[in-house]
Amino acid sequence: MCRGPPGGEAADVYPAWFFLHVFVILLVAGALLGAAILAGRPAGRSRGAAAAALALVAGALLLVPAQVGLLFALGSYGPDFALERLPLGIPLALVGLVAAAALPGLARAARGEPADRTAGAAAVRVALVAVLLSWHLVLVPPTSSAAVLGTGAAYAAVLLLATVLPRPGRRRLVRVLGAGVVAVLGVGLTAGAADRANRLPASTHAGHAELRAGQVDNATLRGPQGPADREVTLTARRVGDRWTYDGTVPGPELRFTEGELVAVTLVNSDVPAGVTLHWHGLDVPNAEDGVAGVTQDAVRPGERHVYRFRPDQVGTFWYHSHQVSSEQVARGLAGVVVIEPRGGIRGLDLALLDHPRSDGSGPDRREVAPGTPVRLRLVNADDDEVRFAPAGTPFRVVAIDGTALARPAEVRGTRVEVTAGGRYDLAFTMPDHPVALYGGRRRLELRPPGDTAGLPRDEGRGILDPLSYGTPGGAPWDRDTLVDREHRLVLDQRMAFGGHGFGYQWAMNGQVWPAGPVVTVAAGDLVRTTIVNRSTANHPMHLHGHHSLVVSRGGEPATGTPWWTDTLLVRPGETVQVMFRADNPGIWMDHCHNLAHARSGFVLHLAYEGVGTSFRIGTDSGNAPE
Ligand code: C2O
Ligand code: CU
Repeated sequence: MCRGPPGGEAADVYPAWFFLHVFVILLVAGALLGAAILAGRPAGRSRGAAAAALALVAGALLLVPAQVGLLFALGSYGPDFALERLPLGIPLALVGLVAAAALPGLARAARGEPADRTAGAAAVRVALVAVLLSWHLVLVPPTSSAAVLGTGAAYAAVLLLATVLPRPGRRRLVRVLGAGVVAVLGVGLTAGAADRANRLPASTHAGHAELRAGQVDNATLRGPQGPADREVTLTARRVGDRWTYDGTVPGPELRFTEGELVAVTLVNSDVPAGVTLHWHGLDVPNAEDGVAGVTQDAVRPGERHVYRFRPDQVGTFWYHSHQVSSEQVARGLAGVVVIEPRGGIRGLDLALLDHPRSDGSGPDRREVAPGTPVRLRLVNADDDEVRFAPAGTPFRVVAIDGTALARPAEVRGTRVEVTAGGRYDLAFTMPDHPVALYGGRRRLELRPPGDTAGLPRDEGRGILDPLSYGTPGGAPWDRDTLVDREHRLVLDQRMAFGGHGFGYQWAMNGQVWPAGPVVTVAAGDLVRTTIVNRSTANHPMHLHGHHSLVVSRGGEPATGTPWWTDTLLVRPGETVQVMFRADNPGIWMDHCHNLAHARSGFVLHLAYEGVGTSFRIGTDSGNAPE
């Protein structure tokens, strides 16, 4: 159950392959460009230049097989990975081989013999154009088979043009370079203007979630009204350069009991862009979800907003602002929420929120009597995974993402990986010697009273894989269950205009937020989503308002105790299938919880048919959830 990193080593190797491929393209381009320039020298006075050009072209040719091999490797992950890499990438790489035609002429010139280098120079030029097109393919990958055909046709036309263009002489080279500079400037200026025009306008739900006649306004999908059993107030305020709830990072730990009616008042004292409270992992009614521009307006300085819900999920959750969340969560607007069972909790129950800017430093030491039941709630509020390693005791993973695991197994000496936004609950009985938790920003040390023994060493090896952890049984669905809807989300990266500017951004199904795809469901639907990560980074995907069952990864079915998640790590090269029941109507965010990734593209909406929103996202609206 813990054989190396979940997803297998292939997933870790994938980005290396990708970057190596890009590196090879760069080298080949450099070599061919150098050769083209050197080969352009007049014959007779250029033996050294011809020799150098010969070496460069030969070197570039040797790299072509490497590029083809890497493309095959990237394509071998499956059809989604092969899409443009095999039919377009490999022919383009092979076009580079025409540069071989330059070798005989260059060899003769290097020996000082007269040589006609016209054909050779043309061949190098064509190879160079093919390399530039390879670059285009990396930066703007086509996202469908139709787009692959279109792109292929365009590439063929460009290559044909490159073969018939006359051979550039020296003067012409200067002119061509001059024209190139003008073209780059022109494209840059146009891109800049388009970029400014493209910054989120104030009505970006238009066409997908905008409220239409006859639809339910999601602002009406509120929690229960009436007198609350628990009332809490959280005040957002600045403390130096940190932004806090009630002055601390993390904010106060909230503990509610299942079934009680909770009313939390959020007051914004002085956080300039406004704040919200999102209940990460709690499947609250849509209007209580706390997403600026989707379920409410950001709460400006001096304003307040009340959230009401009746939690029925017992487990570990967290709250954070969902206005400019990439900045606000990083600055400290985050805290833990625990929903306790009605019967209360026995033993030591500790929630640890890992955040780069939390208060306190050095190890966290506690005295615990041997025999005490211990539960550690690990919450990751950072943008990257955290690998925790309990030492000195066997333990069980009793819950993931606020959902109890039905039949967990006892393990020892393994690490658990908590993805950005995710939670793991670990349980064990306190032994008569110290226990330590390694891996987080603060080490946790538990000791029997008066004990002075040395700490157990970090024995964490491998990573526990929830896909095969514990005893199977009790899952309501598997990957073969008939569903009402199928969705596919292909995660990729490309040059694009997004809500926050132009750049190499994260794209879902080829689109960058706010143009992201919309996933539509009808209330009651059973939905299967296949997530394919073609990009070079890990993406912790978080769907609001629902919990999903992981049914397969990399084509392998889940074989452990049922694994329900709200924030699921998808590694480069991985294909993961999840299923959920659409049982919580509204307009929901679905995004990468590496919040920097969300800001540069990785956001979409899950919209229920018949529901719309009148909230607005964009510069003029003052709402920017990501
Ligand atoms: Cu933890 Cu969309 O959020
Ligand atoms: Cu991401």
